[in-house]
Amino acid sequence: MRKFVKILGAAWAAVALIAGAGVSYLYLHKPAMARASDIRIARTPERLARGAYLFNLADCDGCHSQRDFSRFGGPVAEGGRGAGTVFPDAMGLPGLVAPSNITPDPETGIGAWTDGEKIRAIREGVDRDGRALFPMMPYENFRHMSDEDVYSLVAYLDSLPPVKHKVPKTRLKFPVSMLIKGAPQPAGSVPPPDRSDRRQYGKYLVTLAGCMECHTRQLSGGEVFRVAPNILVVSANISPDRATGIGKWNEQDFVDRFHQYRDYVKNGPPAVGPESFTLMPWLNFCRLPAEDLKAIYAFLHTQPAVYKSVDTHPAWSLQTAGLTSAVKTAAP
Ligand code: HEC
Ligand code: HEC
Repeated sequence: MRKFVKILGAAWAAVALIAGAGVSYLYLHKPAMARASDIRIARTPERLARGAYLFNLADCDGCHSQRDFSRFGGPVAEGGRGAGTVFPDAMGLPGLVAPSNITPDPETGIGAWTDGEKIRAIREGVDRDGRALFPMMPYENFRHMSDEDVYSLVAYLDSLPPVKHKVPKTRLKFPVSMLIKGAPQPAGSVPPPDRSDRRQYGKYLVTLAGCMECHTRQLSGGEVFRVAPNILVVSANISPDRATGIGKWNEQDFVDRFHQYRDYVKNGPPAVGPESFTLMPWLNFCRLPAEDLKAIYAFLHTQPAVYKSVDTHPAWSLQTAGLTSAVKTAAP
């Protein structure tokens, strides 16, 4: 989302600069792109397990799966895993944005792609035909995914049940459509993260999990996510500020805050109304082992404390306030 805002800002500045001559150049310009590798990934049980872990950590479901938001955290709807969707207009995106069908269905999914093409799309941001993907697909983060991790992820994607579901192609408006061509970058070979350095490992997890994309402004949050005219949620301040962030939480508080949702994963999350709508991937992150959450905690605490109070459910507070006064007026 922050990227999208940046791109939009850059878009108008760029249009002012290049007006005329440059435009046709950008139109014809192809994104930076390496040839897709010829690798064929062996599907071992270790890779499938690691791939499932990464799919959950990087919340591929969050965008690519059909979800049931009548329940807390929007669990994946039956049969909708990886099937693709179209983002609603209320999100205010620059055109039609449709997270693709990433199941192995050969016609409507990515079943016909080579492993190398899948790796390139995930880490480098170009599709099979060399088109730049809209960087809301977090390839600028996934670029840091290690070689072995992206192999595991692809092995896991190949094991998803294929779903036949045609999703339209993303169609961005000018000039965003042109400007995103600068986003793809070849990733080269990426070594595995150093797990013995907890903060570094935490940084790796935070990067893949996209914490910074939603908890923008140096983790102080305040980003509004609107999915329907009156359904929204605002990201929390998770910087180490003691008054308004998570500075007072100890490591165990942090782990518990996530693990409290493990029952929801086991038994299915409860039905909720718009007052509890959230895009925070609680149902994913609660599955992370305590060591990983502790590494994330350690990394978050290396970041600057930002003082800012955020109301994560403002529309609801307003609505409730309205409702209460309405009830008061109506009372005898
Ligand atoms: C924040 C939303 C978001 C997340 C999270 C996300 N994606 Fe995407 N992804 C998209 C969007 C949107 C597109 C379509 C972009 C376009 O076509 O320009 C896309 C496109 C893709 C494509 C290209 C498919 C095609 O047919 O062109 C692949 C492959 C892919 N994503 C895999 C993944 C995987 C694997 C994960 C998890 C590791 C993931 N994505 C996480 C939003 C997301
Ligand atoms: C898709 C957007 C999104 C992503 C990705 C995301 N968050 Fe959140 N997060 C939110 C929103 C929105 C809220 C506020 C609503 C809520 O609490 O459910 C929130 C709330 C939280 C809270 C609760 C804060 C409090 O004061 O109660 C914590 C802790 C948190 N996020 C940590 C993280 C961490 C750590 C990551 C990465 C591992 C992360 N978030 C990734 C959107 C996101």
